[in-house]
Amino acid sequence: MPIDLRSDTVTVPTPAMRQAMAAAEVGDDVFGEDPTVKKLETLAAEMTGKEAALFVVSGTMGNLASLLAHCGRGREVIVGDESHIYHYENGSASALGGLVFHPVRTNPDGTLPLDALKAAIHLPAHNYHFYHHAPPGVICLENTHNRCGGRILSPEYFAEVAAIAAAHSLPVHLDGARLFNAVVATGRPVTDWTVHVSSVQLCLSAPVGSLICGSEAFVHQARWMRKILGGGMRQAGVIAAPGIIALTEMVGRLQDDHRNARILADGVASLAGVALDPPEVDTNIVVFRMPGAAVAEAYAAALEREGLLISDFGGGRLRLVTHDGISEADCRQAVNVMQRVWKEKHF
Ligand SMILES: Cc1ncc(COP(=O)(O)O)c(C=O)c1O
Repeated sequence: MPIDLRSDTVTVPTPAMRQAMAAAEVGDDVFGEDPTVKKLETLAAEMTGKEAALFVVSGTMGNLASLLAHCGRGREVIVGDESHIYHYENGSASALGGLVFHPVRTNPDGTLPLDALKAAIHLPAHNYHFYHHAPPGVICLENTHNRCGGRILSPEYFAEVAAIAAAHSLPVHLDGARLFNAVVATGRPVTDWTVHVSSVQLCLSAPVGSLICGSEAFVHQARWMRKILGGGMRQAGVIAAPGIIALTEMVGRLQDDHRNARILADGVASLAGVALDPPEVDTNIVVFRMPGAAVAEAYAAALEREGLLISDFGGGRLRLVTHDGISEADCRQAVNVMQRVWKEKHF
């Protein structure tokens, strides 16, 4: 069995999840009649302190349905240039929704500089320049931040962004695929963050699906967008049931992933000429920089031949992610393999 550190999306349902799937009470959720989906949505809304929630097929659909629910065609999505929404979601808000991406430079810690954020908001002005701009529609944040190595953005930073958004009556959407990693790592309640945003997307990952949470009005609109996107699921209780277990029983164990990520980070730090990037490892993601893109590609391929799977971020950056399928022993073995392959240059 390879040690798979490519992503925390590779996890598989636990035995308890399998049992819950088999036993799930189901109904037609497009008619609003699936009791298990409703239970999951109610739970997510309660946990995040929002009025309502919606179960969607994927994080990508959750982010897209949220953006479409917040604003219509021709509006700007103000988003970090290192964000998942901007990098990895196929430009879907633009391709399908007619929204315009307005990327803002991302700081190494995953925050967007507040002055750049303010400058990205085109203000109505009593002159003809205003008619050149796409008007702002929504501001997006990501926490924890994937491409910035799982960094945690603080609730205090969220408050500052929320104040800027409120001054312009703009909604804030949070791609909180890994928000519970921030919760577990800091010991702060999830509502410390969600109170500052209009909507949040949470990834369940194993086996499938995400939740988006917000006001009743937002979820009503998002439900409509989900159906437009082909995401209305019928007897979805079979996949919502393990989601309930994920939210009620699996959050605490993220601490293990964070501990294991530190083992990997220490191992990476011991490789001569290789640097952690960023140097801080807050949660379950370790990103590091090799001397050049070609070396990174060859190194990842050599590790794969040794049974260690990792991700190539491009530009010489490689990523390791810990998750439910990875033990402390796996991490120690992974470090041994990384050190040996790097030392012997078997690539
Ligand atoms: C930060 C972030 N947002 C959104 C997503 C999208 O989730 P999905 O793969 O379910 O579409 C991911 C997936 O890994 C992610 O890391």
